[in-house]
Amino acid sequence: MTTTLIQLAYLVAAVLFIFGLRGLSSPKTAPRGNSLAALGMLFAIVATLLAQDVVSYGVVIAGLVVGGAAGAVVALKVEMTAMPQMVALLNGFGGAASALVASAEVVTNAASGTAPTGVVPIAIVLSVLIGSVTLTGSLIAFAELQELMGGQPVQYPMQQVSNALIAAVCVVLCVVLAIDPLNQELFLVLAGLSLVLGVLLVIPIGGADMPVVISLLNSYSGLAACAAGFVLDNSALVISGSLVGASGLILTKIMCDAMNRSLGNVLFGAFGAQVEQTAIGAGGAAQGNVIAYTPTDAAVIFSSARSVIIVPGYGMAVAQAQHAVRDLADTLVEQGIEVNFAIHPVAGRMPGHMNVLLAEADVPYDRLVEMDEINPSFPETDVALVLGANDVVNPAAREDETSPIYGMPILEVDKAQHVFVIKRSMNPGFAGIQNPLFFKDNTMMVFGDAKKVMIELNDQVKNY
Ligand code: TAP
Repeated sequence: MTTTLIQLAYLVAAVLFIFGLRGLSSPKTAPRGNSLAALGMLFAIVATLLAQDVVSYGVVIAGLVVGGAAGAVVALKVEMTAMPQMVALLNGFGGAASALVASAEVVTNAASGTAPTGVVPIAIVLSVLIGSVTLTGSLIAFAELQELMGGQPVQYPMQQVSNALIAAVCVVLCVVLAIDPLNQELFLVLAGLSLVLGVLLVIPIGGADMPVVISLLNSYSGLAACAAGFVLDNSALVISGSLVGASGLILTKIMCDAMNRSLGNVLFGAFGAQVEQTAIGAGGAAQGNVIAYTPTDAAVIFSSARSVIIVPGYGMAVAQAQHAVRDLADTLVEQGIEVNFAIHPVAGRMPGHMNVLLAEADVPYDRLVEMDEINPSFPETDVALVLGANDVVNPAAREDETSPIYGMPILEVDKAQHVFVIKRSMNPGFAGIQNPLFFKDNTMMVFGDAKKVMIELNDQVKNY
C-alpha cells in the first residue's frame, strides 16, 4: 500500500474518531458513535498492518491473540460496579505501551549509533515520562478501587515538596536526554524515576477521588500515545492520542465542577482524610427522628400521586435494580402517573453510570432528565423516589457551610411533596457524611436492598 493511501486511511480513521466522539455525547447517539469509532480503529489498524515497516506479522498475530483473549475474558467477567478500576488498568496499559514504544526506539537508535532528529528526541522522553507515570499511577488507582489498599490518602511530611523535587529532576533529565538522545543509562534513570513519581502522585489521593484521577490518567495515556505517534511518525496515533488527551481533560473538569471542587483540591487536598474527620465530628451523629415505611405503606402514597421523579444513585448499580425500577415506572405510567428519572452528573461511580444502567433496562431516553432541567420541577412533584442515591441529594450541600460537600450542585428532592429514600441502612454514601434529608418531615425511609424493595413496591402498586 502506498504511503499516500495509508495517510488517506489514517485521515478517514481520524474523521471517524471525531464523529464517534460526537455521537458519544448523548445516550441516544452513543451506540452509533461507538460503532463509528470502532470502524475508525479498524481503518487505522489495517492501514498500519499494510505499511511497509511492519516487520513480523507473526508477532503481530501472536499479540492480537493473547491480548484479544485476555481483554475478552476480563470484559465479560467484570461487574458493572468494577468498571472504573477496569478503565484504570486499561489506561495504565496504554501508558505502558507508549513508554515501551519510545524505549524500543532508544534501544534501536543506540544500537545503530544514529541519533534521532527534529521533534523525535523530545517525543521519546515525553512518551516515557508520561507513559510511566500513567502506568504506576493507574495501578495504584486500580489497587485503591479494588480495595487492595486502604482507600485512605497516604500522607507524610514534606510530601508535596519531595514530589515536586522528583518531578523537577525528571524534567531536567528530559532536557538532557533531548540533547543527548543516545545516553541509555540516563534514559533508564528517567524511566525509573517516572515510575516512582506515578506512585507518589497518586497515593496522597483518597479512594473517594479515584474516579477523577482515573479520568485524568486517561488524559495522560492519550498524551503519551500522542508523543509515541511523533516517535513513530504515525499521524493516526498523534490524532487519536490528542483526542483522548483532550476528552479526558474535559471529563475531569466536568467531574470536578459537578462536585464543586478544583482539580488542585482533588490532587493535593487529601479529601478522604478531611471527610473522615468531619464524619466523626458532625456527620456520624444522628440528626433527629427518621420515619420508616414498608413498601406496602409506600404504595398507598404512590397510588394517589400524579407525578413521580425517580432519582437513581450508586445503590441502584450495586443492587442491579435497573430492571425492577423500570417495571415499577411502567406500572405507574399505566396508572396515568407522570414518571421521569433525574440524572445527576456524578451519580454512581463513573460518568454516565446511571444512563448506561437505565439504557440497559430500556428506559426511554426522553424520560431521563438532567439535573439543571429537572430541579425546578421538584416543588410540583408529588413523590421523589430516591433509589440508592445519597450524596447527590444531600441538602447539606446547599444549607450547611461547614459540610465538605457544601456548594456541590444537588438534585433538590427535599422540595418534593413526599420523598421516599430506598437504602439498606443509615450508612453514609461515598463522601462519608450524614444526610439531613433522611430526617426531614416529608422524607420516608424504606430500608432494604433496592431491587427487592422495587419488586415489592411494584407488586403493591399493581393492587391499587
Ligand atoms: P452515594 O452517595 O455513594 O450513596 C449510595 C448509597 O447507596 C449509599 O448510601 C448506600 O446506603 C446505598 N446502597 C448501596 N448498596 C445498596 C443496595 N444494594 N440497595 C439499596 N441501597 C444501596 O451515591 P450517589 O448518591 O450516587 O453519589 C455518588 C457519589 O460518588 C458522590 O459523592 C460523587 O461525588 C461521587 N463520585 C462520583 C463520580 C462519578 S463520575 N459518578 C466520580 C467521583 C466521585 P446503604 O449502605 O445504607 O444501603
